[in-house]
Amino acid sequence: MKFSKMADGLQTSPIILLAAEINEMIQRGEKVYNLTIGDFNPQVFPIPRELEDEIVAAYRAGQTNYPGAVGLPNLREAVSNFIKQYGQLDYPPEQILISCGARPLIYSAYRALVDPGDKVIFPAPSWNNDFYTHLSSGKAVMVETRPENYFMPTPEDLKPHLQDAALLALCSPQNPTGTVFGKEGLEEICDLVLEENRSRGPHRKPLYVVFDQIYWLLTFGETRHYNPVSVRPEMKDYTIFIDGMSKAFAGTGVRVGWGFAPADVLGKMRTIIAHMGAWAPRAEQLASGNYLKNTAAVERYLIQFRSDIQKRLEGFYQGFMALKEKGHRVDAIEPQAAIYLTVQLDLRGRTAPGGKKLNSNAEVHRYILDEAKVGLVPFAHFGASEDSTWYRLSVGTCRLDEAPEIMHNLETALDKLDS
Ligand SMILES: Cc1ncc(COP(=O)(O)O)c(C=O)c1O
Repeated sequence: MKFSKMADGLQTSPIILLAAEINEMIQRGEKVYNLTIGDFNPQVFPIPRELEDEIVAAYRAGQTNYPGAVGLPNLREAVSNFIKQYGQLDYPPEQILISCGARPLIYSAYRALVDPGDKVIFPAPSWNNDFYTHLSSGKAVMVETRPENYFMPTPEDLKPHLQDAALLALCSPQNPTGTVFGKEGLEEICDLVLEENRSRGPHRKPLYVVFDQIYWLLTFGETRHYNPVSVRPEMKDYTIFIDGMSKAFAGTGVRVGWGFAPADVLGKMRTIIAHMGAWAPRAEQLASGNYLKNTAAVERYLIQFRSDIQKRLEGFYQGFMALKEKGHRVDAIEPQAAIYLTVQLDLRGRTAPGGKKLNSNAEVHRYILDEAKVGLVPFAHFGASEDSTWYRLSVGTCRLDEAPEIMHNLETALDKLDS
């Protein structure tokens, strides 16, 4: 035994392994359309120009020392105003914690609330909750969601598991599905949490909700974003919000995230983050604070960015619908939010050219990668069952003019399959 049990049991994310495999194919000279990553190609989706200028200016002004444990006052004040203006959420700067992206905030929330063996409930598919649960030695309770509910967990799905749980991890708009909670569904879930906490009384650890809304500014059409506190103000005592610059401003490499939560929970998260040293760089914090206060620039960017993402998602959605209409066993969920489209390739049992039968979803996935040169992430990589025929298609690195080519490749690969 060389390592801790925790480290020995911690798996590398299959999504990272898949991305590495696709990169190898690309390095070998193959043309692969990599729709697997939840990131942006900065050539296609750069960060806002005003933010970039602010970052450069902050470094030039020598803003390179420690940023302080909770984050710079300028940024916390800007976030406080921003979430009030855009989300009607009332949190003073003292209740806002800054970190280097959203991940340390999620990790610190888990570590602040989960004791070894405590139940952590989260939907499958969902992003990384299995790893955070493992890192905090919790007991994962995965709730498999269904296409008819847009792969969002319902009150009925969650209700049987809430008793004695320490944490309920929710994300809306959700990675990997690009779908959101409806108002009523979220209200009912919050009512269940509030009821559970009333039954626990003041001497037991309450059930908390980690609510990851990092994609909340990227909703399309009629889709609306709801959060636990907007639908049930009493949820303020039990909700830890996770948010940041990474997705709404294509700033995955800027590394500025923020969380807001009840003051006592936030205090614990701050101490954990301080010991990790997981602060956001000082220059990026200052720049993000100045940028968020520039409402006109933020508005301009979001309008264009949303429209560019939506065009791509719609294009792929229409493409999948056209294939379905032609009789192919594929499907997709109409885009709602984030940078993801949920698509289905129900091709198990079909025969590939050369007579090889696709016996498993893993073989279907491989066929699509090798034959169509299109990389998608199976929902099984996000904790869904291996039987799941659904995939995440990410448009963050996709040029608009590539979409027809990608759909053509997919159609050609599907046409080659025998029933
Ligand atoms: C739902 C969700 N939360 C958090 C993150 C991580 O954000 P960050 O890059 O700011 O750490 C991601 C990244 O893919 C995500 O999809």
